[in-house]
Amino acid sequence: MGTLKNKDILHGNQFTRKEIDAIVRTAAQMEKELKGKGSLNLLKGKILVTLFFEPSTRTRLSFEAAMQRLGGGVISMGSVEGSSVAKGETLTDTAQTVAQYADVIVVRHPRIGSAKEVADTVSIPVINAGDGAGQHPTQALLDLYTIRKELGTLKNLSITLVGDLKNGRTVHALVEVLSHFGASFYFVSPAILRMPEEIAARMREKGCMVTETEDLALAASKSDLVYMTRIQKERFADQSEYEKLKGSYILNREFVERLNKKITILHPLPRVDEINPDVDSYPGAAYFRQMRNGVYVRMALLALVLGKR
Ligand code: CP
Repeated sequence: MGTLKNKDILHGNQFTRKEIDAIVRTAAQMEKELKGKGSLNLLKGKILVTLFFEPSTRTRLSFEAAMQRLGGGVISMGSVEGSSVAKGETLTDTAQTVAQYADVIVVRHPRIGSAKEVADTVSIPVINAGDGAGQHPTQALLDLYTIRKELGTLKNLSITLVGDLKNGRTVHALVEVLSHFGASFYFVSPAILRMPEEIAARMREKGCMVTETEDLALAASKSDLVYMTRIQKERFADQSEYEKLKGSYILNREFVERLNKKITILHPLPRVDEINPDVDSYPGAAYFRQMRNGVYVRMALLALVLGKR
């Protein structure tokens, strides 16, 4: 395939349809091969470095698991406090440093555009694991892979995205990759947490139907998929605003059982209170399967950018 070899993974809008198809196909191969063998030797001798300037459980650990499942090694900067960042080292100097030790960088940082700054500094592939309220392209790709598995298709789906659409980097990236497949979007949020206008406008330009509403019940009743997100406490300058908005949308079992029987529910996680645990056993609640798919998709991305698939 080769189209992603040595490329950076920075933004949901960077992919061609052909590249998305290649990633999905490679992830499916990884899933199959992993089930057969438990681990592969594809990236033996290669090293991944993780630079996380913001908290993470899933993204960091699934990248580390993916690299190890591929036979490669992992090094990590560890906590910001335990690294030379605490002495004042810049992001770009940190990037220059770790590029001497590793073959691929996975970076999460609170500043929009930070992953691109790293990519512009080093010659090895850089993968954006979340740049503030900007983008989270690998989450988008694992979401896409999950949707295809759960619903059997990516084409012409009606998708409700709920919560903090202003600050939610997962939804910013997800709509970009879904726009290749003719989606209809319902953006459900409190008024001050609406999807950024330039993203909504771009979706319309790409031929997607976009409806913005505060009415979750109405949107969900017309959808194949409900994608819940957390109100992002850490992005609020005024915590009293967060206190007013938290709990704006909560899915519970009673609500879900009134929807289309085939409804699929995703969430990038972590959740706070937006999905009640009584939804977890609902057959369409796919957010734990979604996490597992992250390993296959990240295996695919590592193999592709390192030129081994
Ligand atoms: N979905 C996601 O990015 O989770 P983490 O913040 O735990 O990595």
